[in-house]
Amino acid sequence: MSLSFDPGYDLMPFQELVDRAPDSTVYPFDSFRTEWGPIFHRGRLDGTARMLCIGQDPAQHEAIARRILIGTAGHRVQGFLSKLGLTRSYVLLNTFLYSVYGQTGGNQHINDPAITVYRNQWLAAIMGTGMIEAVVAFGTLADAAWQKFIADPSGTSFAQVAYQHVPHPTSAEGHGGTPEQVAAATKVLLEKWNSAIQALRPAIKHPDASQPFVPYGINFAPADLITIPRFDLPAGMPAWMCGDDGWATRTGVSAGDKRKTITIEVPPGVIP
Ligand code: URA
Repeated sequence: MSLSFDPGYDLMPFQELVDRAPDSTVYPFDSFRTEWGPIFHRGRLDGTARMLCIGQDPAQHEAIARRILIGTAGHRVQGFLSKLGLTRSYVLLNTFLYSVYGQTGGNQHINDPAITVYRNQWLAAIMGTGMIEAVVAFGTLADAAWQKFIADPSGTSFAQVAYQHVPHPTSAEGHGGTPEQVAAATKVLLEKWNSAIQALRPAIKHPDASQPFVPYGINFAPADLITIPRFDLPAGMPAWMCGDDGWATRTGVSAGDKRKTITIEVPPGVIP
């Protein structure tokens, strides 16, 4: 039976993995917002996932909904999955369990053994179902995470699974610059996403829906951004948390205030 909510971590080995998630002794406070707790995944952990996506680290929306890739980056990833015919049979993991704090936090800790060992156990559990037909890494840190896994004894047997490394969904804005520079970077990103989708489509033998590939244009069109399915969120989450309305923002004047404050606002139109 398909549930209308995400049941969480009741299955092994995920129950046990969640139970011993690394804390701030592994993810230091000066590089990670460890105070918001670990945020583990989004999607199917019941062995029905056909595709694994690796992201980077959770942000403020994810800290509230307790599932990864649900904000702007998540809506873009959901569109990418949809172009591969995947509307339910996917699972998403981040490179880091906690939100990266500061510019260099991610790069500084990508080789930390304890972070890698724990992440590899998640990757081994997901790949070990034998059902995953393709893997995509969004961003260079996610690619590093995958390369570390397939170099590890627990991951070598998955080195032949169809794999693509593409730019992170919000990297065009993330690099900053003028609107023209962001537009140019978005165009390049989408060209790479189009190529990756074409390379991956033949590997996805069990899509949820078979539909012709509609490539991206030079910018994200409204139809390329897909609402997060309600069944990806824990039970009882309001439907508006699936939308991309920027309902969670880090607020405060100082960096310290921003770090400890996430303001949540119900989007317009929800309350009659
Ligand atoms: N949110 C996530 O959970 N991961 C990303 O890579 C970006 C935003």
